[in-house]
Amino acid sequence: MRVFNQTIHSIVDENFIYARALSHLGIEFYLHPHRRLGELCEEMGLVKEQVLKSFYLFDQNQRLSFSELNKFSLPIIIQYLRHTHHTFIKEKLPYVAELIRHLKGKDDLKLIFPEFVEEFIHHIYEEEDTVFGYIHQLVKIDRGMMKNPAGALWEARKLSLESMHQEHLEEDELAGIRDLIETYHDTDLHWQVIAKEIRAFDREMMYHAQIENKILFPKALQLELSVKEKIQKISQLN
Ligand SMILES: [Fe+2]
Ligand SMILES: [Fe+2]
Repeated sequence: MRVFNQTIHSIVDENFIYARALSHLGIEFYLHPHRRLGELCEEMGLVKEQVLKSFYLFDQNQRLSFSELNKFSLPIIIQYLRHTHHTFIKEKLPYVAELIRHLKGKDDLKLIFPEFVEEFIHHIYEEEDTVFGYIHQLVKIDRGMMKNPAGALWEARKLSLESMHQEHLEEDELAGIRDLIETYHDTDLHWQVIAKEIRAFDREMMYHAQIENKILFPKALQLELSVKEKIQKISQLN
């Protein structure tokens, strides 16, 4: 198979996603740029099928389309979004952070990237606690799973989905980094992989935010309205 005769440098040069697949197998591309993949696999006892499978898996586009997601219920959409959060925090960001840590120079990026990661993680936890938490409560009320729905709504009276949505529409955490990486014009492969990973992450984050803005919030706002109307009717009857 041709790929096993190629150097690590030329494999990653062809497709930067392969740098992540290699890292997953225990091969950091920047440590062995001139070695052939076949040799490294032999030394490390890696089975060829396993290597090819890893390339294939990392190269696949695993995201769901807007229209597919739109058909799901709110709890499933939240589960999907949580899963994406998890892969951002546990896989994608640590991988890019490690690439940046091993890079020579670019001290400004080395300084601001960890700050971005910290802020990003904070945003995600806040979103899960506040937005997802509140929507879960609405779903429970709607399905008659709350003993005192009016009381639960009263407790959450200070939360406004409308303003959460507005705030969310204006968020753009990656702005600083996005601008910074475009100021470097390096052709070095290590830098190219980092820049491509950050751009790909940026696109993924935008897509993720769009799912929240165009599917999650509108559906949740609709549910909030119908839950409030239902409860109002019940209290008028009493
Ligand atoms: Fe999110
Ligand atoms: Fe978000």
